[in-house]
Amino acid sequence: MEPVLVAANWKMYKTTAEARAFFSAWGEVAVPPGREAAFFPPFPLLSLVKELLPAGQTLGAQNAHEALEGAFTGEVSCPLLKDAGCSYVLLGHSERRHVFGEDDRRIGAKFQTAMKSGLRPILCVGELLDEREAGRTLPVVLGQLEAGLGPEPPDGGFDIAYEPVWAIGTGKVARPVDAGEVHAAIIGHLRGLGAGRDARVLYGGSVKPDNASALLATPGVHGLLVGGASLDPASFAAITRAGS
Ligand code: PGA
Repeated sequence: MEPVLVAANWKMYKTTAEARAFFSAWGEVAVPPGREAAFFPPFPLLSLVKELLPAGQTLGAQNAHEALEGAFTGEVSCPLLKDAGCSYVLLGHSERRHVFGEDDRRIGAKFQTAMKSGLRPILCVGELLDEREAGRTLPVVLGQLEAGLGPEPPDGGFDIAYEPVWAIGTGKVARPVDAGEVHAAIIGHLRGLGAGRDARVLYGGSVKPDNASALLATPGVHGLLVGGASLDPASFAAITRAGS
C-alpha cells in the first residue's frame, strides 16, 4: 500500500522569502511513518522548494500543458516539471475546470501526457453544489473520472483527489460519511475498470487541523489535499500528523 499522502496546494500564494520562512519552521516536523508530505508550490518556487524539502518529502506542480513542448506562451510542460524535480502533477483541479474553463477532454489529454512523462498525476474530481443538491454527485464525479483516465485507463501510477467544489475554500467540509460514500464509489469504479491498482483517493475541501483526523479515519480516504491550511507550517504539520 502506498503511504497516506498529505498534499499542500499552495495555489498562487507565497514569495521566495515566505517559502524559505515556511521551510525553516517546517524543518523540525517529523512526518509519521506510513505518511508522505508533498508540496505543490507555484511554478517559480519549484526549484527552491525542491532544495528546501526534507528527505522523503516530495514535490508536485499544480497544472501542466498537454503538449510535450511547443509554441505555447505562458504554459509549462510535463517534461519541464519532471526536470524541475516534480514527482506529481495536479490535473483538473476545480479552479482549472471552473475558473479557467478546462473541460474533460483537455484534462484527459493532460493526464495521458503526464503518465507518458513519468509524472504521477493526481486527477481532481468533484461536484458543484447544485449538482449535489440535484442528487447528481456520483454521475458527475464518475463521469469526470472516466473522461480523465481515458479509453485505456492505466493499471497504476496515478492518484485521485475528490474535492467537492462547494467545500473548496469555503470552510464547509464534507461530512466524513458523505466523503466516504464518494470515495467508495470511486474505488469501486476503478476496480470495475481494472485500473489504478495503487491509486490513492485523497479528500480535499476545507481540510483543517480539527477535521483531518476524522477524514483520515474514514474508510476509502487515503490522503488529503489541503489548500488554505497548508500555508501555515504549524497547521499543515498538525494535519500531516492527524490521528497518527
Ligand atoms: P482548501 O483548498 O483546503 O482551501 O479548501 C483545497 C484545494 O483547492 O485543493
